[in-house]
Amino acid sequence: MVIKLSAGAIAVSVCLSLAFFAGHGQPVLADGGGGKKHDVADTVKKEVAMSIKKNPRIGAALVRLLFHDCWVHGCDGSVLLDKAPDGGSTEKDATNNIGLEGFDLIDRIKGKLGESVSCADIVVLAARDATFILSRGNIAYDVTTGRKDGVRSSAAAADAVLPPSTFNFTQLKANFAGRNFTQTELVVLSGAHAVGVAHLSSFRDRLDNATATPISARYQRALAEHVEEQKGVQGTPDPTEPNNIRDMELAFRNASGHNASGVDTSRAARGVLDNSYYHANLQNKVLFRSDWELRNDTTGAAGRDMRVC
Ligand code: HEM
Ligand SMILES: *[C@@H]1O[C@H](CO)[C@@H](O)[C@H](O)[C@H]1NC(C)=O
Ligand SMILES: *[C@@H]1O[C@H](CO)[C@@H](O)[C@H](O)[C@H]1NC(C)=O
Ligand SMILES: *[C@@H]1O[C@H](CO)[C@@H](O)[C@H](O)[C@H]1NC(C)=O
Ligand SMILES: *[C@@H]1O[C@H](CO)[C@@H](O)[C@H](O)[C@H]1NC(C)=O
Ligand SMILES: *[C@@H]1O[C@H](CO)[C@@H](O)[C@H](O)[C@H]1NC(C)=O
Ligand SMILES: *[C@@H]1O[C@H](CO)[C@@H](O)[C@H](O)[C@H]1NC(C)=O
Repeated sequence: MVIKLSAGAIAVSVCLSLAFFAGHGQPVLADGGGGKKHDVADTVKKEVAMSIKKNPRIGAALVRLLFHDCWVHGCDGSVLLDKAPDGGSTEKDATNNIGLEGFDLIDRIKGKLGESVSCADIVVLAARDATFILSRGNIAYDVTTGRKDGVRSSAAAADAVLPPSTFNFTQLKANFAGRNFTQTELVVLSGAHAVGVAHLSSFRDRLDNATATPISARYQRALAEHVEEQKGVQGTPDPTEPNNIRDMELAFRNASGHNASGVDTSRAARGVLDNSYYHANLQNKVLFRSDWELRNDTTGAAGRDMRVC
């Protein structure tokens, strides 16, 4: 079974999604203070490229940050806030926001660009540039700017609308429909799980046979062992693992019976945003229940979306 989702298809859908949140009015130059003018798009691109070079982890973080900002009352930068006006907890404190990163980079770019560019726009631009870099230029799309920053932020609001990894297909579809996203967009955007990492607490259900949705037994066993090892290596009871089996060591992939046919598993391909998530999913070798649910929904329709070539 060779199933592919082309980078082109991803680009089209990502485009649609972002256009949905688009604002108006594009400041090209920003006054970052000291009388120096900065080209906005250029500055973001350079900063993002430099950060990813220094710490490849940051690319995936920026892609997720966009999703998590935009899902909670629109792309308004509210995910960045450290304090709520009422002194309550912010989106950063939400359970579903575990592992969110990239805040320092957004702050640094904002520091360079000043008041004429909103943080919300910087999140959108940075995710776009990260996507381009991680996909090796295969996913390119235009964005508009001109969003205003919001001041509302609450953990409860974020947990109420961000989908947890334990959602079934019906719940995932309803969650995306609530933001006017289609089933195809749900499948395509989930392809972002080709990159980045997840905490054990986000996929523990899949290691426990009492709660696991179908998962390759060999992959499950290898993952359970790896997680135990990583608790020591990372010095935490909630270690992270790469989302994509492609990014695991060869010994792990061998033990899991990963069929890498059609997937670039060279060292250079690690962390690349490509269609390998779908290859892994069709072998039941993905971390989250929400990933697996896409191929095994009650109608089979989402699984068919993975076969877009
Ligand atoms: C369909 C529903 C989705 C669910 C249930 C979901 C859930 C999750 C979870 C639980 C994690 C791991 C968090 C952790 O434990 O640290 C994660 C990571 C990630 N998600 Fe999703 N996600 C979904 C959709 C998306 C979408 C639409 C995007 C972007 C287009 C996205 C991009 C990412 C990325 C890039 C990471 C890795 C982040 C990093 O390495 O810092 N996800 N997701
Ligand atoms: C691996 O996948 C390819 C294409 O998807 C298939 O042709 C091949 O038979 C598979 N190999 C094994 C050992 O399952
Ligand atoms: C999905 O989960 C909801 C909430 O737990 C449940 O009511 C529904 O029956 C589930 N749907 C399927 C198809 O399992
Ligand atoms: C979804 O689309 C409808 C109809 O265009 C619109 O009324 C609604 O506000 C949109 N929902 C969101 C969350 O933007
Ligand atoms: C879960 O089930 C699989 C397949 O039946 C089995 O190989 C594995 O040992 C079980 N795992 C646990 C932790 O019981
Ligand atoms: C993985 O499997 C391949 C092919 O069977 C084998 O050549 C290689 O030595 C194995 N490597 C590890 C680290 O297990
Ligand atoms: C869902 O998974 C079950 C068990 O793996 C399988 O029997 C069934 O055909 C799958 N359904 C769909 C729609 O893919």
